Amino acid sequence: MNLTTELRPGVDYVGYVDYNVRDFHSYDTRLGATYNAYLIRDEKIALIDTVKAPFAAQLKRNVASLVDLEKVDYLVCLHAELDHAGSLPAMVEACPNATVVCNAKCKDALAGFFDVSNWKFQILNSGDSLSLGKRSLTLVNVPMVHWPESSVAYMPEEKILFSNDAFGQHIATSERFDDEYDLPKILEEGKSYYANIVAPYGRQVLKTLEAVAPLEIELVAPAHGIIWRSHIPEMFAAYKTWASNKYAPKVLVIYDTMWQSTELMAEEIYAGAVDYGRKLANENPSAPKLDVQLMHARKTTLTRLAAEALDAGAVALGSATLNAWLMPAMASVLAYFQGLKFREKTALAFGSFGWGPGGAEAIQKAIPELKYVPLTETPIKAKQRPTADDLAKCREAGENLAKAAWERYLADQQ
Ligand code: FEO
Repeated sequence: MNLTTELRPGVDYVGYVDYNVRDFHSYDTRLGATYNAYLIRDEKIALIDTVKAPFAAQLKRNVASLVDLEKVDYLVCLHAELDHAGSLPAMVEACPNATVVCNAKCKDALAGFFDVSNWKFQILNSGDSLSLGKRSLTLVNVPMVHWPESSVAYMPEEKILFSNDAFGQHIATSERFDDEYDLPKILEEGKSYYANIVAPYGRQVLKTLEAVAPLEIELVAPAHGIIWRSHIPEMFAAYKTWASNKYAPKVLVIYDTMWQSTELMAEEIYAGAVDYGRKLANENPSAPKLDVQLMHARKTTLTRLAAEALDAGAVALGSATLNAWLMPAMASVLAYFQGLKFREKTALAFGSFGWGPGGAEAIQKAIPELKYVPLTETPIKAKQRPTADDLAKCREAGENLAKAAWERYLADQQ
C-alpha cells in the first residue's frame, strides 16, 4: 500500500514504492526502489513524472485521492525512460484534459516508445517556465543525466528542485525524507546509484551541479528514493566528489576461481596490499586507512563491484582459465566496467591455468581497453596450483598495487 506524502501544502508525493524489485535492468536493487511522481495543486494541476507501467493503477489511485483526474492540466515529463514515463499513456488516457509538457527531445523519445499522435504537447525549451498560478515550474535541460532528453524542474516559489534521476537512490521505505532515514545508508545507496547509472556522464553531472548552484533550494525531490530537505549540502558535496572522480585510498582484488588456485593467488595479492596498508598506518597513524577488499566475482553483484570500483585507484583482476578464456563472471565484470568508464586505475592481471593460456592473458589484454594502466607487462600466472614462488610474486604485486593506489590518492589530495 502506498500513501501520498505532503512536501508543501499543495505539493505531494504520489509515486510508487516498489519493495519487491530486485533486478532493475541488471542493477541489483537489494533494498527495492521507488518511482517518485509529484502532484502540484495550484490554479492549474500538474503531475511531474509517472511510474513504471505495471504500477499505473497505483499512481492513478494516489493522484485521484487528491484531485479529480479530469482536473489535471499538465503531465510534466522530465525523462522518457520507462521507469518514469511508463505510465504516461495510462495517465494521458485517465486525464483527458491534460497536456504533456516536456522538451523537444523528450517528445521525440516518447514518440519512440508510444503512439503519441493523439497527445496534446506543450514543448518547453531549457529555461522556459510553466505558470501554474501562484507557483511555476522552470525546466532546465540536463542532457545525459541520465539520457539525452533529461531535464529537471525548479519551482522558485517553493524552492523545490524536481531533479528526476539526479540525486536519487534505490531504497524502498515508508519514509520519504532524508531526516527520517539513516543518512550514511542513503549516501551509500546514492553512491551505488551514481556508480552504476550515472558514472559515464560525470562531466554532465558537474554541469548540472553548476546549473543548480545559484538556485535557492530547500527541497530536492528526485525521481528515485529519498527526498532531500535536511542534508542537501552533504548530498551535493558527495555528488561533487563522485562526479569529480576523486580516488579513495582503495584497492580491490576481484577474481573468479575454479579449483581455488586463482583464489589462493587472490588472497596473497590481498595480503600484500593489506601489509602495505598496515605499514602506512604504522608510519602515519592519523592518515586515512587503506581500504583493501577481496571480492569473489561470482558471489558479489556487479552493482556492488561497480559501487566499490568507482573510486578505487588500483584493482587486481583474476580468473582461472576456462575453455581457453575467462570465467564468465570475470568476463561480465570486464564488460560492465568498460561501459561504466571509470577513471584510470592501476590494474594487475592474474590467474591459474591447466594446460594452455586463457584467463589471465584475456584480462591483461582487456586492461588497456578499460583505459587502465597495467601494473606488470605480463600477467601473474600459476599452472594448476600456485607454487611458493608464484605466491611470492602475488604478494609483491599486492604491495605494489597498494603503493600505486596510495600514490593516486595522495596526488588527488594536492
Ligand atoms: Fe530512473 Fe534514467 O531512469
